[in-house]
Amino acid sequence: MANDEVHSGRRRFLTATTAVVGAVGVGFAAVPFVTSWKPSARAQNAGAPVDVDIGKIDNEPGMRMIVQWRGKPVWIFKRTPEQVAALPTLDPRLVDPKSDNADQTPAFAKNETRAIKPEIAVIVGICTHLGCSPGYYPEMQPQGFDAAWKGGFYCPCHQSRFDLAGRVFQGVPAPSNLAIPPYHFVDATHLVIGVAPDGAA
Ligand code: FES
Repeated sequence: MANDEVHSGRRRFLTATTAVVGAVGVGFAAVPFVTSWKPSARAQNAGAPVDVDIGKIDNEPGMRMIVQWRGKPVWIFKRTPEQVAALPTLDPRLVDPKSDNADQTPAFAKNETRAIKPEIAVIVGICTHLGCSPGYYPEMQPQGFDAAWKGGFYCPCHQSRFDLAGRVFQGVPAPSNLAIPPYHFVDATHLVIGVAPDGAA
């Protein structure tokens, strides 16, 4: 197992990987280990729920964790109050602002932030176009790809854009919002990915 915490510009990103997906960590400089998340390789292979300690991101908005669940990267990050407040303003520019597509959004997350707690985002990090990994651009400032950027994700493969709730913008190749996995909170700083609040997997 390896847990790698890396720096990227001003932002700190936390990437958690397991031995079975060791390639994920390649290319990142290893700094202090984070030992709070320890799913076994066997549990990972079986697609079992993954326990995650989000204490670090809870104290640092903008920081992102990436954990593996059923072979997929799941992004977990904390949105600032300003980022949360900006989400409704983006609705006119989005394909499915209310998350009506149930394939991408479980019922418990069918709300403006697509989350149980508005500030905590839990999103499957796979572009809904052809499966690339979109980049994280949390800053609320103009970008070369969007002059009115309020933070979100930009897919380098074919320029799809998603907001900080994983909702896809109009006029890009990706047809639908990024998926929200089943998850629930055990307590204030621990969540389980793989089981919805109602127990559904
Ligand atoms: S795979 Fe993301 S835009 Fe094509």
